[in-house]
Amino acid sequence: MIEVEPVIQQESSVLSGHRLIIVSNREPFQVVREEDSLRLERSAGGLISALDPVVQSSNGLWICWDGAFQEDDYSFEDLSRLAELNNIEFPYPLQMVKLSEEDIEHYYYGFANQQIWPLFHYFPSRYAFQEKEWAQYTEVNQKFAQSIVENATPEDFIWIQDYHLMLVPSFVREKQPDLNLGFFCHVPFPHYEVFRVLPTRREILRGMLGADIIGFHTPDYAKYFMECAEMLLPGEVKVLDGETLMFRSRQVRVKAYPISIDYDSIDAISRRPETDEAVAQLRSSFQPAELIGLGIDRLDYSKGIFDRMECISLFFDRYPEYRKRLVFIQIAVPSRTKVEDYQQLKHEVDEAVGRINGRFSEDGWAPIHYLYRGFPMEELVAYYKAADFALVNPLRDGMNLVAKEYCAAHSDDNGALILSEMTGSAYQLKESFLVNPYDYPSVVEAMHAALSASNEEKRERMIQMRKTIQENNIEKWLNDFLADFNVAIQHRYDNA
Ligand code: G6P
Repeated sequence: MIEVEPVIQQESSVLSGHRLIIVSNREPFQVVREEDSLRLERSAGGLISALDPVVQSSNGLWICWDGAFQEDDYSFEDLSRLAELNNIEFPYPLQMVKLSEEDIEHYYYGFANQQIWPLFHYFPSRYAFQEKEWAQYTEVNQKFAQSIVENATPEDFIWIQDYHLMLVPSFVREKQPDLNLGFFCHVPFPHYEVFRVLPTRREILRGMLGADIIGFHTPDYAKYFMECAEMLLPGEVKVLDGETLMFRSRQVRVKAYPISIDYDSIDAISRRPETDEAVAQLRSSFQPAELIGLGIDRLDYSKGIFDRMECISLFFDRYPEYRKRLVFIQIAVPSRTKVEDYQQLKHEVDEAVGRINGRFSEDGWAPIHYLYRGFPMEELVAYYKAADFALVNPLRDGMNLVAKEYCAAHSDDNGALILSEMTGSAYQLKESFLVNPYDYPSVVEAMHAALSASNEEKRERMIQMRKTIQENNIEKWLNDFLADFNVAIQHRYDNA
């Protein structure tokens, strides 16, 4: 463990003196290679920036795998030395769960990413049960549970994150029943008809039900979870109301807490003069095309990137007057590159971009500008702000924060968001141009409608969406969950 001094002091009224322990597969810091030197960097994402100050101010800690460090052959000792050499002060201790290569292969790449991920995103045809992967998933979840038991006390709030660790709550509960356990599912929770495909469906449910509180992104996911629990564990589960159920003799709270972004910080970046300079530069680099469409995603088959490319092709077929006037920028961030389905997707998207550009390009104009890499938030905000519309058409997505970031980056109230109905974000961003991502012609019509809408209409839609996101930012997500976590714990104490 790397002991560090707290730097920021930011009290959380909900925690009132209790430590917050976050448990996630991925680490909050990463080793970044820069020419000959190395440095530690906070992992990207709103979740980490929201949780960081709270873990820190509560003198808490973060339990995670040692996966990313392991890929670069770093041991715990190397990491401590690195931090020291680079004058890095960790805001809180990291407790790393040591995983073997085999663990990572079968637990992370295997069960989590080739079984749970496709099934929970409604791709049962990409799903195949492998006993070995399930066994390793169980084993790794036990390792995380053991680390929690060794590091936590009954006063702590322990918050376990996501589909990699669904068995951890019950494993901890079995070892130490009086610990306070919260769980959050960051992916969709599927309907019973899909969930029951999973041979280990009952074990997964019992695993999650070890928690005092279980959070989902939308009311539907929470409802589906309740239905699955009721139907698959009839003797053990009794639903009390829309937000609580009894699991054996313990009450569990099940509710939706839609995750969000740090609205204020993205809005602030978008108002910087440097951002406007970058926007102007971007726009001029695509001249004489004067319109920009944008897609930003991890390169994942759930995001509908291949389908998006097909929609763009159909758009230029149907509306040839936009040729040479519109450029579509696609940023695809490499992800899970060792998994075959992701390698295959990369080939398909590469091929589609080449084919479409080959077919439509003329006079130095190409319809798609494709970037296969990640960007820092400052640069992303410039892309967001420069784009006349964003096309966010996942085939399924637990929430989708790109949609929210796009709106937050439009401090000018311009722009248009085309959004898939199959995302959690669609529950909140009702003023977007909503589309069924499987219906290519309707996506094309939505692109056309977004490009043809009056400035006034676009402004009205954007102002409303920005307001929704501002009022429901990441801080609210965090505070709402922690407040209910507190209530759930009190209930257990009162009934002990
Ligand atoms: C999704 C999951 C996260 C995960 C992220 C990146 O958003 O819900 O838990 O961390 O994808 O995926 P990775 O496999 O790189 O951690």
